Amino acid sequence: MSRLVFLLNGPNLNLLGKRQPEIYGSETLADVEAACHRLASELGHEIRFHQSNREYEIIDWIHAAREDGAGIVINPAAFTHTSVAILDALNAFEQPVIEVHISNVHKREEFRHHTYSSRAASGVIAGFGSHGYLLALHALSEIAKTKKS
Ligand code: DQA
Repeated sequence: MSRLVFLLNGPNLNLLGKRQPEIYGSETLADVEAACHRLASELGHEIRFHQSNREYEIIDWIHAAREDGAGIVINPAAFTHTSVAILDALNAFEQPVIEVHISNVHKREEFRHHTYSSRAASGVIAGFGSHGYLLALHALSEIAKTKKS
């Protein structure tokens, strides 16, 4: 069984730590990546961590995960609320998907309450800051022991 988890990040998350820290915190994406690598090795997973501001790159990584991915943790950022294409790609991925949002999108503007990608997720973690990525990895690791729910 593959132990490889894809951690995918959408637009503007390269600015994590600098961008609206009152909403997204002061940890950088490199900090998040390092923490995810540490936890993944404790859980016996290998990870591929990516970020892009381009929708097609995220779609290409989801397709790549079809080859050998045991699961996907994804923060599609603003594409959450706009992208049918990312939803379709996730629906074509047959292993578990966990969606992460650093902020609690439900507490924010109305337009953030609608999501496309969540329809393909086994679960959504929102509002726990960057710690949400670690919660998602734990959840994925558990779910991957059984199967997509
Ligand atoms: C986000 C929430 C989205 O609404 C927003 O567009 C982001 C980040 C989050 O992690 O809280 O860029 O996905």
